[in-house]
Amino acid sequence: MTHVEELRPEGSFDKHRNMASTHSKFLSVWNVEAYYGESYIVQGVSFDIHEGEILALLGRNGAGKTSTLRTIARLDSPALKHGEIWLDHQPLHEMRAHQASAAGIGLVPEDRRIIPGLTVEENLQLAQIAPPKGWSIDRVYDLFPRLGERRKQEGVTLSGGEQQMLSIARALCRDIKVLLLDEPYEGLAPVIVQEIAKTLQIIRDQGITTVIVEQNAVAALKLADRAVILDIGKVVFDGSAREVLEDDALRSQYLAI
Ligand SMILES: Nc1ncnc2c1ncn2[C@@H]1O[C@H](COP(=O)(O)OP(=O)(O)OP(=O)(O)O)[C@@H](O)[C@H]1O
Ligand SMILES: [Mg+2]
Repeated sequence: MTHVEELRPEGSFDKHRNMASTHSKFLSVWNVEAYYGESYIVQGVSFDIHEGEILALLGRNGAGKTSTLRTIARLDSPALKHGEIWLDHQPLHEMRAHQASAAGIGLVPEDRRIIPGLTVEENLQLAQIAPPKGWSIDRVYDLFPRLGERRKQEGVTLSGGEQQMLSIARALCRDIKVLLLDEPYEGLAPVIVQEIAKTLQIIRDQGITTVIVEQNAVAALKLADRAVILDIGKVVFDGSAREVLEDDALRSQYLAI
């Protein structure tokens, strides 16, 4: 078991470590601290992801998963007060959200944000307005045939699973390097979860790096290469997804499953 305490005993961090020297990692989150107002929520989170990996970011309700994704995407809240975030040699910690988006971060938030009054295809076209353009709409329909069949349907009238597919598809229509998924399986039947998981594997095989936050930890762990577990805003485990699947004690301690 690779509990983080064992990997990095208290005080062992080299405070002067320069992230520029660790760029072999594609996305590096280093000692990130973020606040909602005075509330200290993301408490020194560090992890790295290699290009093309799927990382499951797990933890109980309120552990800080959504806040960590929002910090990486450089949304205004929570406010990043300390630490560095590097994406493929680009300092995300120095950017605002629109710059992080242009640098290749694609955040798919929990509420999916399908735009009312627009068809499936118009939702995708809108994502392509600002360059650089990512996948073509035809390529997206090859990946999600259900969206192609429903291209003329209003996006908000899609089923929950189809709406999740549309929100992932919309991210791919921009030129993203990293997909940040917040609870993509929420409220979906197991068969649809499996369908989306298969699609996420194809997306990985096409070179996109993914961070998946999920309450359905088992489904996320089956998909992921690696897992990071958060507890009260801190990393308590960083290792292979398989280790977490095989470690009942770890799962019951931090994931309540
Ligand atoms: N806008 C906000 N203002 C103040 N505190 C917030 C805000 N959003 C979240 N928090 C707090 O930050 C902590 C972490 O929340 P976060 O949403 O990141 O957790 P989470 O791991 O995503 O939980 P869940 O599994 O329930 O989605 C919680 O204590 C939450 O109450
Ligand atoms: Mg959340």
